[in-house]
Amino acid sequence: MTLFSHAPSRVDFSNHAAVPQALFPCAEFLPQARGLAPLVLRTQIASDAPARELLLDAALGAGRRAKTSELFRTGRLPAHGLALSATHGGELVGTVRLWNVSAGGKPALLLGPLAVSGAHRSLGIGAALMQMAIERARTLGHGAILLVGDAAYYQRFGFQPELTTSLDLPGPVERARFLALELAPGALAGATGMVVPTGARERSRPRTLIRQRVKSAQAA
Ligand SMILES: CC(C)(COP(=O)(O)OP(=O)(O)OC[C@H]1O[C@@H](n2cnc3c(N)ncnc32)[C@H](O)[C@@H]1OP(=O)(O)O)[C@@H](O)C(=O)NCCC(=O)NCCS
Repeated sequence: MTLFSHAPSRVDFSNHAAVPQALFPCAEFLPQARGLAPLVLRTQIASDAPARELLLDAALGAGRRAKTSELFRTGRLPAHGLALSATHGGELVGTVRLWNVSAGGKPALLLGPLAVSGAHRSLGIGAALMQMAIERARTLGHGAILLVGDAAYYQRFGFQPELTTSLDLPGPVERARFLALELAPGALAGATGMVVPTGARERSRPRTLIRQRVKSAQAA
């Protein structure tokens, strides 16, 4: 069942460009039909964590924590201003986060995971999260974004494998899925070698706390 049964098949995000690009606004996109719950894209907040982790488990499976990209996230905070949530009627339905890295000596971001809840897919929410993340990253002065994902999806945002041929990840990766986008032309020129995390470290053990909250949410 679609939650947007009275709305167009895809949510109209065409007003996205009008969203003020002052840092970290709360951007709200209303479906065109009246009476429907608002769809909101905004900066992630701490209380999003349990729903975000449940969404990621459902979208990516329990094995998601064994992925090479997870090495860049464990024990780190996302890049400032670059953790985004999509909510519908207050329910978290989409998430994307970006992480500070050094790409062979060049400062860059690693994007992931991106996920949208199964009931809300093909409405343009994934694309809207990607566009907002890319625009924010550019506004914040970042030069390049790396990710590991399906080129068939990410190439529409300009990501390409050719930019990562001289880069390595600290674990197995399919080269065709190791993609990058330059926000500033030439930002990855001469980037050679290992990609390593450079983000701020988490202060406590929030993953334990998040797991406890996820269990509470599941039990409720
Ligand atoms: C990938 C994902 C985030 C897309 O979210 P979404 O809100 O449905 O995306 P959009 O509405 O912007 O785009 C949907 C389109 O992308 C296509 N698409 C989705 N995943 C794709 C993939 N892996 N490869 C190619 N195309 C894909 C859909 O078929 C759809 O095509 P259509 O417009 O012709 O119907 C979502 O499918 C998801 O959460 N998947 C599971 C988690 C995942 O694989 N995340 C990416 C790994 S980092």
